[in-house]
Amino acid sequence: MYSIVARERLSETTFLWEIHAPDVAASALPGHFVMLRLYDGGERIPLTVADYDRERGTVTIVVQALGKTTREMRDRYRQGDAFSDFVGPLGQPQRTDRGETGPGHMVFVGGGLGVAPVFPQLRAFKQAGAHTTAIMGFRTRDLVFWEEKFRALADELIICTDDGSYGEPGQVTGALARMLKRQKPDEVIAIGPLPMMRACVETTRAFGVKTMVSLNTIMVDGTGMCGSCRVTVGGEIKFACVDGPDFDGHQVDFVELIARQKRFKPEEEVANKSFDH
Ligand code: FES
Repeated sequence: MYSIVARERLSETTFLWEIHAPDVAASALPGHFVMLRLYDGGERIPLTVADYDRERGTVTIVVQALGKTTREMRDRYRQGDAFSDFVGPLGQPQRTDRGETGPGHMVFVGGGLGVAPVFPQLRAFKQAGAHTTAIMGFRTRDLVFWEEKFRALADELIICTDDGSYGEPGQVTGALARMLKRQKPDEVIAIGPLPMMRACVETTRAFGVKTMVSLNTIMVDGTGMCGSCRVTVGGEIKFACVDGPDFDGHQVDFVELIARQKRFKPEEEVANKSFDH
């Protein structure tokens, strides 16, 4: 069993768990993900590592309560509670080495919940000597989280809200496009909802700036056997769980991916309704 050593409410729908999992914490790197299952027979869900503390032996995940399992996590589990499975770290970590010239100027774009997994990548690149710009996007001020964590590490921080209630008004792509017109960074890493990552990729394509995205596809086993997480990258079939989850966004077939993400919608709605009763 794995215990929740800290739990923090970030907004009405988002929350953080810090989980005691020394083996996972010992080898977790930015870009890795974990598979979590609450109990026997429960759904297995992939979650990107938001942080880890090797000394405390803990891994932090940030979750949005959208489906049955994530709502169960929000409503039925408290600090000190335990759950069944926490497998990881899985996937390929993000590489921070960028040859003899170093990582140069890196831009980290996080949209909503994607702000959490972009954080360890920002920290790793900062430690590798990069000049860092962070662009964080939220729908509204109430959803903003980890501003101070980002401010402590980013050389430049831009916060955007869709409704203009905090920071710059508008979406992250607007801030990204304005920044690209001012200066050309070496690389962009964008993590968030699929439409947001797709929009970031289309924004940077015109400027010829490499853009990595983290694909949180529907996963079942998380080890490359079921095919559920299949995605086409550069015309080749890849599996997000073992080949990713980070890929060159300019090569990703987002049209196919967005269609595939909808294939269990009816089942998800039934499961969600069952939790309402
Ligand atoms: Fe099964 Fe990736 S989740 S192959």
